[in-house]
Amino acid sequence: MKGIIRVKAGKDFSTMHVQEIPSPTLQSGEVKVKMASSRINPVDMDLMKGFPTLKYKKPQIGGIDGAGTISEIGQNVRDFQVGDKVFFYRKFSDIGTWAEEITIHADYIAKIPTHLTPQQAGTIALPLLAAYDSLQELGAKKGEKILIHGAGGGVGFLAVQIAKSMGLEVIGTASGKDIDELKNVGIDRVIDYRKEQFANVLKKGEVNYIFDLLGKDILLQSIDLQPKKIVSVHYVVPEKMSKAGVNLPAILKWILSLTMTKFRKRAKRNGVELIGQVTGGNGQLLGEVSRLATEKMFVVREIPTVHLNEIEQKGLTKADIGKAILFG
Ligand SMILES: NC(=O)c1ccc[n+]([C@@H]2O[C@H](COP(=O)([O-])OP(=O)(O)OC[C@H]3O[C@@H](n4cnc5c(N)ncnc54)[C@H](OP(=O)(O)O)[C@@H]3O)[C@@H](O)[C@H]2O)c1
Repeated sequence: MKGIIRVKAGKDFSTMHVQEIPSPTLQSGEVKVKMASSRINPVDMDLMKGFPTLKYKKPQIGGIDGAGTISEIGQNVRDFQVGDKVFFYRKFSDIGTWAEEITIHADYIAKIPTHLTPQQAGTIALPLLAAYDSLQELGAKKGEKILIHGAGGGVGFLAVQIAKSMGLEVIGTASGKDIDELKNVGIDRVIDYRKEQFANVLKKGEVNYIFDLLGKDILLQSIDLQPKKIVSVHYVVPEKMSKAGVNLPAILKWILSLTMTKFRKRAKRNGVELIGQVTGGNGQLLGEVSRLATEKMFVVREIPTVHLNEIEQKGLTKADIGKAILFG
């Protein structure tokens, strides 16, 4: 069978290529999955560059999320059967989904939303889990107001639907091309970031919560808006990295924490609770949001695709981020 293999660390995906690899051996607690699809997430490239303290396998298969059909069940796996359609997100310390067949611990998998195909589910595993896990952190109540930055992106578009299912009033920043689709899934207001600055059109205290997917100046300006809480995927809390299976040495934790000082200080000055978000493989949480997605019939947008055979011919580049890899 074929897989996309990281040959060595590189600046981008250029050191990865498709090669024949042996079919994986099933361990106790694992299932074997015939892959349908996997999204090329921004984090995939960071992981392929080489992440501090991670030990890469030989061969190291790329990819961290995806979906497919269970073809074999290992010992001590309960809740799943051969033929189940599942999706998953792995930990940084256990990557590898870009192959025709993979093995994965049953703790990381969940049945896909019943209104989706495995191919569709593989395009949303990480974005759906990241959006749900982040919004759970806020403890928001029905009727409160949230601003979601990057609402038109992979994570943001699902976050809008989760926030609406929580009964929240949702404002999003996005580019004009995404406005119609955001309105179709119930967003209350869109600020087109290419035409207007959110910091100029929203008043201090106007939103109760902010979900930040953009970081840097957007995060600083968000803090100045003085919501009760902000959850940000770009505010790194080193202790939380263990959720992704990464245990950083004390010196790296200290350096990382130092790079976050300006956000921490600004939040304190403005009386804002700033929550850093790291997503870790968690089949139970993914199962919860999968059931919510089924109940509310979440809309999944079609994204551009690239077949494994095409990658074999032309390789992977940064421009492929956001596309789905199709197997089989
Ligand atoms: N820490 C974690 O656990 C975690 C988990 C998942 C994702 N992430 C991170 O979350 C971020 C988003 O991921 P994603 O997969 O959703 O990326 P994505 O699909 O590329 O979406 C990013 C979106 O942000 C929009 N955007 C760019 N600049 C903007 C601005 N100034 N204002 C408003 N919107 C803007 C883009 O719009 P246009 O390009 O169309 O203009 C695009 O729709 C990435 O940085 C990713 O690494 C972190």
